[in-house]
Amino acid sequence: MYPDRVLSGMRPTGALHLGHYQGVLKNWLKIQHEFECFFMVADWHALTTHYDATVGMGEHVWEMVVDWLSAGVDPNQATLFIQSRVPEHAELHLLLSMVTPVGWLERVPTYKEQQQKLADRDLSSYGFLGYPLLQAADILLYRANRVPVGEDQVPHIEFAREVARRFNHFYGREPDFEQNALRAAAKMGNKKSRLFLEFRTRYTEKGDVEAVMAAKDMLAEAQNLSLGDRERLFGYLEGNGKKILAEPQALLTEASRLPGLDGQKMSKSYGNTLPLRLEENELRRKIAGMMTDEARKLRTDPGEPTRCPVYAYHKLYSNEATLTWVEEGCRSAGIGCVQCKQPIGDAIWAELKPLRERAQMYQEDPTLVRNILADGCERAQQLASDTLRDVREAMGLLYT
Ligand code: TRP
Ligand code: SF4
Repeated sequence: MYPDRVLSGMRPTGALHLGHYQGVLKNWLKIQHEFECFFMVADWHALTTHYDATVGMGEHVWEMVVDWLSAGVDPNQATLFIQSRVPEHAELHLLLSMVTPVGWLERVPTYKEQQQKLADRDLSSYGFLGYPLLQAADILLYRANRVPVGEDQVPHIEFAREVARRFNHFYGREPDFEQNALRAAAKMGNKKSRLFLEFRTRYTEKGDVEAVMAAKDMLAEAQNLSLGDRERLFGYLEGNGKKILAEPQALLTEASRLPGLDGQKMSKSYGNTLPLRLEENELRRKIAGMMTDEARKLRTDPGEPTRCPVYAYHKLYSNEATLTWVEEGCRSAGIGCVQCKQPIGDAIWAELKPLRERAQMYQEDPTLVRNILADGCERAQQLASDTLRDVREAMGLLYT
C-alpha cells in the first residue's frame, strides 16, 4: 500500500567518530539506495536525557550533519531533516499520548535500564518516560515501515507497532462497526463470544499473537456465522478496516564491533574515540597509543590477539593474509605492537582521507548544509502534514 520507507535518527552529539561510521553510517549509505530514506537529527530526543545540557546544541547539529554528508549520505537519495523543525512530531506525540497506557511506557526495558545506567542524571521526567512514544511518533508520522535499529532498540519498534495498532483500533473504524461486530460475536453463543472478545483484547492490547490465532480458529470453526459476520469479526479482531498508521518493522543492524582505543565501547564520554575528521598525524598518534594485550609488556613477550583491541580493528580492516600475520606474529612475539598497528593506521586513513576532504568543502560553505537541511525539512513536513491530516480527521478534529 505504501512504498518501503525508512526512518532513522541520531541524537546531535557533535562530530562523529569511527564507531558511528562503522555501526550506523555505513548502513545508511547502503540502505539509502534500497529504500526511501528519512534521516533525522533527533534533537528533541537529546533533551529527554540532557534537558540541562543544551549549550552548543546548534553547533552539534551542524557538525553531525557535515559528517553525515562527508561520509556519503546523499541528499539526492535521502531526506535529511531536523526533528524540531517539523513540529508535527510534537502534535502526533501528544495525540498518541491520549491512547498510550502509562504501563506500556514503564514496561519498555530501556526505561529502567537507562535510569540505572545514567544514575548521575535526573531521569524522573515526564519527557524521559515518554521518549519511546516520541520515537514512535517519529516513525509513524512518515508511515515508515522499516526502522534500522540495533538489538537494544527492538522493543521500541514493537512499542511503536502496538501504539499504531491501538490507534487504528480506536479511530480506524466505520460508524457502527463495533456494534455490528459485537452483534456478530453474540451469534456464536454467550460463552464463545466472551472467549473471542477476551482473545481479541489480549491481542490488541498486549500483541499476544497466540491469542489472535486462537480467535481466528474459533471464527473458522463457528457454524452459525454468515459470511459477512465472519469477515466483520476477522476485521474486528485485528483492529480492522482502515489503517491510518502503518505498523513498522525493525530492520536489524549489527552493532559495531569496533572497540574504543582502550578496548571499551567507543564513546565520547570515555574519551576513547577516533573522530572522523582527525588529521593524519593525530590519527596515527592515537592509534600508536592504543591499548594492546596487557600480557605483552616487553617486545619479547608473546601475546594473544583475541585479548587485544588492535586485533578487533584488523578483523574489520585487514585481509586473511594480514590476519594470519598478526595472529602468528603476536603469539610468537615475531612482530611488535608498533609494527602490528601500522596497517591499521594505513587502512583507517585511506578510509577517512576522502571524508575529511569532503567535510572541508561543507565547512567552507555552510549555506550548502543549510540548504540541504531546509530542503529536507520541507520535504519531511509535507509528508508529516499529510499523515496528521488523516490523524486529525480520524479523531474527529477537523472542524471544516
Ligand atoms: N532513539 C535514537 C537515539 O536515541 C534516535 C531516534 C529517534 C530514532 N527517533 C528515531 C532512531 C526513530 C530510529 C527511529 O539515538
Ligand atoms: Fe595486539 Fe598486535 Fe600487539 Fe598482538 S601484536 S598485542 S594483536 S597490537
